[in-house]
Parts: sequence; C-alpha cells; structure tokens
Amino acid sequence: MNVILLGPPGSGKGTQAKRFEQSCGIRHLATGDMLRAVASSSSEFGRRVKEIMDSGQLVPDAIIIDMIAARIAEPDCRDGFILDGFPRTVPQAQALDDMLAQRRLGIDHVILIEVNDAALIDRLSGRFSCAKCGASYHERYNRPRVEGVCDICGSREFVHRPDDRPEAVRARFEVYRRQTEPILPYYRARSLLRVIDGMAGIDNVTTEIAAILGVDAPHA
Ligand code: AP5
Repeated sequence: MNVILLGPPGSGKGTQAKRFEQSCGIRHLATGDMLRAVASSSSEFGRRVKEIMDSGQLVPDAIIIDMIAARIAEPDCRDGFILDGFPRTVPQAQALDDMLAQRRLGIDHVILIEVNDAALIDRLSGRFSCAKCGASYHERYNRPRVEGVCDICGSREFVHRPDDRPEAVRARFEVYRRQTEPILPYYRARSLLRVIDGMAGIDNVTTEIAAILGVDAPHA
C-alpha cells in the first residue's frame, strides 16, 4: 500500500505516519527528516540545505526528487510506503507518478489533514523532539509517558526545531499556500484525495485515517 499524507506544517503528518509505519509494516518516508540528516553534515551542501530549511523555504525539486526516487527503490519499501512531506510541488507530484509508473506501481490513497492556522501555530510553538531519535512531542497534547524521557529510545535530551521560530513558521505557511496547495486539484481530479478533520485529538485522527486505509487503528 502506497500512501501520501498531505497537510500544512504542524498538521500531524509525522505523528500519524509513525503510527501506521509500526502497525501496517509500510515504510515512513519523511523528506523533512531525510533533509535534516543532510543538513546536520558539515559539508557545503549540508550547510546550504540547512540554510534553506531554517528559513522555511523549499529545497530545489531536483534534489528532493532524486532523493525519493533512490529511497523507494530500496528493498524496505517493497511492501509500501507512507509519504510525509512529499510531494510538495506540482513538479514533485508529476515526478512521483513517473517514478512509480516505471516500477509498475501507483498511489493508493492521498489524505489531506486539515487544521486551522491558530491550532497550527499552537502545535508548532509547543513542539519538541528527541535529540537522539527525532520522536516528536508537544508540551500539552503529546508529552512523553515518563516526564523527561523519550518513549522510543529513552534519551533525556530534547530539542526545538529551528524552523519552528515564528518568522520561519510564517514563511512555511506562505510556501504551503503558494507551492503545495496547487497539488490538491492534481489528486482530486484523479479521485484519490480524501480530506479529514485534523482538529480532532491525535487518536481520533488516527481512527479516521485507519478507516480510509481499511486497517485497524494503531494505538500510540
Ligand atoms: P517537514 O519536516 O516535512 O515539515 P512540515 O511539512 O512543515 O511539517 P512538520 O514536520 O512541521 O509537521 P507535521 O505535519 O509532521 O506535524 P507533527 O506530526 O510534527 O519539512 C521541513 C522543511 O524541509 C521544509 O520547510 C523544507 O525546507 C524541507 N522539505 C521537506 N520536504 C520537502 C520537499 N518535498 N520539497 C522541498 N523541501 C522540502 O505535529 C506537530 C505538533 O503537533 C507535534 O508537537 C504533535 O505532537 C502535535 N500534534 C499532532 N497531531 C495533533 C493533534 N491531532 N492534536 C494536537 N496536537 C497534535
């Protein structure tokens, strides 16, 4: 099963994709995480990628398309994948179709998680992540089970993302409206797009996605 999760910054794509990766055995491919790994290297390319990400702009299509094409060809994607953060532009959506067609594959579901701007700002300003494994939390809505200890890897070190600063968040919203929303008609025209209410609590959103995918809702 190949799935695309769409939604503005902070809508919960990563939170949900991780749950379905564990329960459905399909690979979670988060382009933001892949690019953060590149940005953490001390190379000139890594510095350039970090600069773009921290400002809230998109990295060039050619870079991210090559990265995804290489990734979906790997054996761990054989049983399917859930894309989080890709595609983000119309050329990326077209390139994804081409790369899948070459492998005689297609997209089964495209799910848009809708959340209003006030809630998005609240979520991004309260988000923190594990410095070691990247697991994402929220100061009020999604705290670690044991205070100060990552649920996934047990680390006690947490960080805030540089692009969750208010000025970068404003830029990310603007980029989403201008460059990413135009891909919605692309999937709507092919009757693939389903829209869900992302204002609901995390477990309720999981239940809605599970119903669309036709699987049991995974628990946290
Ligand atoms: P990326 O990392 O993909 O960021 P994003 O799309 O802006 O999305 P986020 O990760 O911020 O949010 P999310 O929707 O995953 O929400 P989350 O689950 O964390 O991209 C970062 C940058 O990389 C881009 O700006 C760009 O520069 C570059 N990039 C990436 N892909 C690219 C591409 N294809 N092309 C070009 N450039 C690219 O949830 C947010 C918070 O809310 C968390 O704290 C969570 O606990 C909480 N939360 C989640 N769901 C709920 C809920 N239902 N109720 C209450 N709280 C909730």
